Amino acid sequence: MRIVNVVGARPNFMKMAPLLREMRRHPGLAPTLVHTGQHYDDAMAGQFFRDLQLPAPDIALEVGSGSHAYQTAEVMKRLEGVLKDIQPHLVVVVGDVNSTLAAAVTAVKMEIAVAHVEAGLRSFDRAMPEEINRLLTDAVSDYLFVTEESGCENLLREGVDRGKIHLVGNVMIDSLEQSRPVWERSDVIARLGLSRGNYGVVTLHRPSNVDDPATLRGLVKALGEIGRRIPLVFPVHPRTRSRLEAMEAEAQSVASDARYVPPLGYLDFLALVSGSRLVLTDSGGLQEETTALGVPCLTLREQTERPITVTHGTNRIVGTSPDRIVAEATRVLNEAQPMVSRPPLWDGHAAERIVATIRETGGRRVAAAR
Ligand code: UD1
Repeated sequence: MRIVNVVGARPNFMKMAPLLREMRRHPGLAPTLVHTGQHYDDAMAGQFFRDLQLPAPDIALEVGSGSHAYQTAEVMKRLEGVLKDIQPHLVVVVGDVNSTLAAAVTAVKMEIAVAHVEAGLRSFDRAMPEEINRLLTDAVSDYLFVTEESGCENLLREGVDRGKIHLVGNVMIDSLEQSRPVWERSDVIARLGLSRGNYGVVTLHRPSNVDDPATLRGLVKALGEIGRRIPLVFPVHPRTRSRLEAMEAEAQSVASDARYVPPLGYLDFLALVSGSRLVLTDSGGLQEETTALGVPCLTLREQTERPITVTHGTNRIVGTSPDRIVAEATRVLNEAQPMVSRPPLWDGHAAERIVATIRETGGRRVAAAR
């Protein structure tokens, strides 16, 4: 069975690594790795390939940055010829980035079966580009591999055929566990001059948080206040860096209470998070990783598409009001570390379940099914 696996942006790489590793264990499967090039800097892509021991992509589309329409269209144009050449039985896409949607639409129009890994998540906020990508990708996929029960409920509510839905767990956690022996040896905490259990980690990159100067200024102010209570380290995404650089000097001086560092690789970042007292983020994946690691997480958004990280995990949705963020951070710092159990099936074996399902069913299109 020829399978084309598509990655494009940073949060795709750790989802694909365990899938590809598992596919390669089965001689009946012929996987190809396509990198769209949505993310291209070494810090955003190359370092992740190395950290995750992902093989170099068989095909690099080198699409690069651009508007949503440009990026999506370029992936579609360039991938079409690749799919024509390879004639795969199945295209596997992961997550919710523009490359995910572009690859799914390209494949389905060529009557190639599509598997979406991390299907069914919904924030119910259609101003988020990822929400549009999720809805549209799920609508055309034949295999919907779901990480948490809420995803199954969402898909059923949307009228999706039950036979397409597979609750398999979370490949992010497969990656986290498979690489644990390596990241546990990282010296990143000492390298950044921090001490274990006595610092917070910040990440921000959502357009709704960083593209609006007033919102970003409020967030930076909150971080400045929390940073006076506990050291904060902030690996800065390129989108956020350019927005911070555009901010006026006064706001930047408040920001200087947090330590701004370039984006970290996968292994150093997991080591940093696992040793931290608290995480403040607007990332989706990090809500899951903190839940698996038992580190308190404050999500600086109004909603989450991953509610199990709140009901079973360490996550709290605190919005973007600076006062509320500071109050919630203070509360976390005054509390004992939470005791948490992991969500069902977040056991490090999701990729095995996904590949077993694909093999058992032959990677077929679910023709005419809704
Ligand atoms: C994308 C995803 C988002 C994901 C995030 C993780 C979409 C719609 N968004 O957002 O879901 O959470 O990746 O990082 O697909 N840039 C670089 N170097 C790079 C890549 C980007 O400098 O390697 C800069 C460019 O100036 C670019 C900007 O970052 O314009 C944003 O990149 P883009 O891929 O458009 O969106 P992200 O914000 O990274």
